[in-house]
Amino acid sequence: MRNIVKKNILNVKPYLPGKPIEEVKRELGLKEVYKLASNENPYPPTPKVLKAIIKELKELNRYPDGNCFCLRQAIAKQLGVDTDQLVFGNGSDEIIVLVTKAFAAEGDEIITAHPTFLIYEIATKISGANIRLVPLKDFRYDLQAIRQAVTERTKIIFIANPNNPTGTYVTQCEVEDFLKGLPENIIVFFDEAYYEFVGKKDYPNSLRLLKQYPNVILTRTFSKAYSLAGLRVGYGVASKEMIDILNRVREPFNVNTLAQAAALAALGDKPRYMKMIRGLNQEKQRMCKDLQKLKVPFVESVTNFVLIDLKTDSLAATQKLLRKGVIVRDMGFWGLENFIRVSIGTPKENKKFIQALKEIL
Ligand SMILES: Cc1ncc(COP(=O)(O)O)c(C=O)c1O
Repeated sequence: MRNIVKKNILNVKPYLPGKPIEEVKRELGLKEVYKLASNENPYPPTPKVLKAIIKELKELNRYPDGNCFCLRQAIAKQLGVDTDQLVFGNGSDEIIVLVTKAFAAEGDEIITAHPTFLIYEIATKISGANIRLVPLKDFRYDLQAIRQAVTERTKIIFIANPNNPTGTYVTQCEVEDFLKGLPENIIVFFDEAYYEFVGKKDYPNSLRLLKQYPNVILTRTFSKAYSLAGLRVGYGVASKEMIDILNRVREPFNVNTLAQAAALAALGDKPRYMKMIRGLNQEKQRMCKDLQKLKVPFVESVTNFVLIDLKTDSLAATQKLLRKGVIVRDMGFWGLENFIRVSIGTPKENKKFIQALKEIL
């Protein structure tokens, strides 16, 4: 196989997802396991959303609406954009892949930060382009250094805002300065997967930036704030021209029927989700206070996860936590030795994590 596969594919390090709860229960013989490893919403979809999903079950003999008509109308209205400025994906992950597929080829360069969301590097390598990783500065995207890394071959710049795994963000002013100096033939991709959690006045208004810069695309998802990680639905907003191009490389039925119905119902139940998000943000503050009491340093986060510096072997710590029934993410794989990333769970889950951490430290 290795002699017939495309060379660039062998450079891809497969993505390592957080361990599923059932797998840990099975492997370690545990009854109760808490997963704080994949930045999911710990609460299930609301009753309205579940009802919408159940209503669609009897339609599953049919293909989904390849155009996501109802969801498209609802999001366009909510964001104040045209319906043809939207592209939907099997998670916002898919939009990352669509952009690299459409705009990058062998010999091109794609720039992002390090460490950041790993799919940018994976999608780049699959496209055959080269990745340039610019180190974070104080755990934040260093937009000036990224600007300096641009060459004539640069095709795409991925900016996770907020960033995963650090939970930090870049501001409106920083982004405006960055875009001003940048050639317009470079796609600037703002990945806003954690947008709903941020609540900061200086967070960029990327929808407004998009009006000024046709090379900008932003993505959001129903996986995090809207509790729908298991159904896979996200979207991108960009100029009509860019969306037209992405639709050429998109599979016709990439967002399934249940995902479309659930996302639409979730939008209709926004106040309940916003309340959930406020609760999770309060839980995050509580967890951070507990970490301070334990004298364990962490990075200030505007998301539903926290990057924690254990100052000790994080792989060993992650395994010890696992044996106590708490799944967190070791950050060694991302180049952050001694760090773990912990998603904000329910009060019970967070307490369990803090207790387990106390015991292992
Ligand atoms: C920064 C970032 N972007 C995108 C995603 C993918 O989200 P989705 O479930 O919409 O594919 C994640 C998921 O962890 C993420 O952290």
